[in-house]
Amino acid sequence: MATTQQPPRNAGTELLSFSVNGRAVELSIPGARRLSRILRDDLGLTGTKVGCDAGDCGACTVLLNGDPVCSCLIAAGQVEGCKVTTVEGLARRAPLYDRLQQSFLSHGAAQCGACTPGMLVAATALLEKNPSPAESEVMDAIGGVLCRCTGYRKIITAITEAGCVAKQTQPVAGAAVGTRLVRLDGPKKVDGTEIFGADETPADTFCLRVIRCPYPRAQFHFGDLAQYVATHPGVALVLTAKDVPGTDCYGVIPRYADQPVFASREARFRGEAIAAVVGEVETLERLDPAEFPVQWQPLPPLSSMDEALAAGAPRIHSHRQENVLVRGRVVRGDVERALADSDFVVEGECETGFVEHAYIEPEAGFARRVGDQIEIQACTQSPYMDRADIAKILGIAPEKVRIIPTAVGGGFGSKLDLSVQPFVALAAWKLDRAVRMVYSRAESIISTTKRHPARMRLRAGATRDGILTALDFTADFNTGAYSSWGPTVAGRVPVHASGPYRVPHYRALTRAVHTNVVPAGAFRGFGVPQAAIAQEQIYDDLANKIGLDPLEFRILNALDNDSPTVTGQVLGEGVGIRACFEALRLRWKMGRQAAAKFNEKATGPLRRGVGVAGMWYGCGNTSLPNPSTVRIGLKRDGRIALHQGAVDIGQGSNTIVAQICADALKVPISQLDLISGDTAITPDCGKTSASRQTFVTGKAAHMSGSKLRAEILKLAGACACATIEFAHAAIVVIEDGNRKQIPLGGLPLDVFGYVITCEATFDPPTSPLDPNGQGNPYAVFGFGAHLAEIEVDVELGTVRVLKVTAAHDVGRAINPTLVEGQIEGGVAQGLGMALMEEFFPGKGENLHDYLIPSAGDIPPIESILIEDPSSVGPFGAKGIGEQAVIPTAPAILNAIHDAVGVRIHKIPATPDRVRAAILAKANGGARG
Ligand code: FES
Ligand code: FES
Repeated sequence: MATTQQPPRNAGTELLSFSVNGRAVELSIPGARRLSRILRDDLGLTGTKVGCDAGDCGACTVLLNGDPVCSCLIAAGQVEGCKVTTVEGLARRAPLYDRLQQSFLSHGAAQCGACTPGMLVAATALLEKNPSPAESEVMDAIGGVLCRCTGYRKIITAITEAGCVAKQTQPVAGAAVGTRLVRLDGPKKVDGTEIFGADETPADTFCLRVIRCPYPRAQFHFGDLAQYVATHPGVALVLTAKDVPGTDCYGVIPRYADQPVFASREARFRGEAIAAVVGEVETLERLDPAEFPVQWQPLPPLSSMDEALAAGAPRIHSHRQENVLVRGRVVRGDVERALADSDFVVEGECETGFVEHAYIEPEAGFARRVGDQIEIQACTQSPYMDRADIAKILGIAPEKVRIIPTAVGGGFGSKLDLSVQPFVALAAWKLDRAVRMVYSRAESIISTTKRHPARMRLRAGATRDGILTALDFTADFNTGAYSSWGPTVAGRVPVHASGPYRVPHYRALTRAVHTNVVPAGAFRGFGVPQAAIAQEQIYDDLANKIGLDPLEFRILNALDNDSPTVTGQVLGEGVGIRACFEALRLRWKMGRQAAAKFNEKATGPLRRGVGVAGMWYGCGNTSLPNPSTVRIGLKRDGRIALHQGAVDIGQGSNTIVAQICADALKVPISQLDLISGDTAITPDCGKTSASRQTFVTGKAAHMSGSKLRAEILKLAGACACATIEFAHAAIVVIEDGNRKQIPLGGLPLDVFGYVITCEATFDPPTSPLDPNGQGNPYAVFGFGAHLAEIEVDVELGTVRVLKVTAAHDVGRAINPTLVEGQIEGGVAQGLGMALMEEFFPGKGENLHDYLIPSAGDIPPIESILIEDPSSVGPFGAKGIGEQAVIPTAPAILNAIHDAVGVRIHKIPATPDRVRAAILAKANGGARG
């Protein structure tokens, strides 16, 4: 049945008729209005996502008369008489679309889901024309849709195999762990109903725009703000630092908190907020920031670490000497002596740049005041940390702040820090009216955290038998204008810079250095990926100098259960790094032989190489508490409520935590009702970072599930081996063939509203590090090794990755599909870091100039799962999120060296840098 919407026609608008998802639509709207906006704001079809508003990301892809287009590039006037199909309308294309959806679900092709609608639309257009596409045709079809999570391989497989999807069977009681269960939140991601930060707008919502500093460093003075409000109808309020009722200072690590919501006299980086304008949507859309009454006085910035560290440089924060935020240190043995005594010593240096997270969903959300409380619904990785900071900013108790996380369209660390939350909270608090904010892509890029640029120097020594003797590592990390996660990076890197090897003499010294650029923060690995780039190349150089095979050199020196790490920790179990390297051995030999043969015969510009790199990564906080608490409750209807506050940012914690809990209870997973991260109704599961949710929250879920099982059995007077089944409003406990039914309907409810509630908290056992960094910083480490096969065009300097083989020790793969998804996504980000991604503050603040890998850049990825269990983790599991990204870039860089004999000292290895290194080598200047 056709429906028609006919708002009153206004001046400057056109009456347009077209169809959307088979329904006739008439709208009186400005002819230049973007189709994406019409769909989302005027028609409420928020399944179509907006990632860039500029034709770069493809998230907004819809069908226009059957062809895929970026709806953000289509003006209203262009759709007159057209047929538009959005992800919500694809259901009408059954059975093709049903199969495609099922294929996406069963292959794990949707992680965060922000790109999924665009992918599904592009895939549908292809499959309608070509039901059996080749892989290359699929890659072409989705080439314009960016995904930052999956590494594309599972999407490609899901599309090519959409015609033959096997029906999934649900695991029986006690058998959820280890199965390739479809993610529990998957259906919403493939039908367009998932709610991200920008997808909900309460009635009568005001909008908010932030006024940001256009200079790297500047003092400023406001003009007459009251007059500005009075002369701009539709503007309700201007907020500045004076309007912060609590403390105008926040930060993810309270001890180092230093970032104001609004700078008060001097802005320390380009993009820093100094004020916000709140009002009607249409007014703010027309707002010209140049009219805002502020006078700027640009000041000379400290643009680089050299400038910031120079004698006499002004301090960016008066209490931080030499512009050093913090220093990190791990020292063991006598490095100088060991290097002097080594048969072989190599040294080198390496530099990496800023890397942008480039999640497809820009930051967004809204706040509303409810009496003396504030509610914030926004994308976030850390609801309880947000709650603490917002309470401080508003000057109210944390219990008066409710954080309701939306689905998160990718985070990778950056959504651990506050973004829209303080602005909308302040405005809603003051106006007692809902206030909403959606970052533009440019705003997201200029104001949110990046991966720390690193400048690293190393010396490594070994005996003539290839036994590592010593590593000396020093590094500076550019942490930008505010602390964010700088202390974590500076502290974590020295613990990890040895790599997963026995290094008896070790010195790692780091500094996080303030500059007048956008703050650097958490990005998948907290500095360890940068360190691995340096350390894995120097180990390759050392192996080559000794004359040893680089893989065998690593196996020879790999950590084992009984050898102390560089902090003196003896793990005693679960050190699976040797198994990871050994799993690559055959592929390594075959790949090296094939590359050598190729190069022997090569007459053109192409040369091939194979590289390997290893990694380790401590799960959770470094020597600091990071507990998770999980609550589960038995309901009167016999179902079980699982309150788990771990925010699923695409990695799959909603599913994995439920799998663990179900198996601890020994009940079917279908019996669980999932209640996810809302500070009013879920206990604190900490932040989604540091590869801690499977390990820490998973363990808490295991403990609370085991507790509830024990309580139920106690209620029935049954022993631990009894079986629990469920009937309507009753549980049935079976012991020795006897069935005992316990009706639940009449039982009293506790304060949580359940018949029985169990809660458990797990905090990984660690110990503080001493002044030399000695101690037990993590209870569990994940291990991995990647092998990269690549091809270099020596004339162009371009590098093509042909294949990546990734072996990871995950302890226990709770859900192998989701683990593979993390690995493939990590490989894609590592490839981008190695070859193309570098953010230059003040330049390229969009996804057109800042390039991330697209489907065509990603080679086949083979994942090898090693399961060397940890007795601490749930069912033996360790983390995988950060681990997956770490070895890819150094493996690629080692492969470049294998192919053409040059080291690239400034990462990424862009064509100009590779070509320059090749030319320098030809001229006798390359270091190797
Ligand atoms: S939102 Fe349209 S291409 Fe990115
Ligand atoms: S699943 Fe593709 S961007 Fe997250």
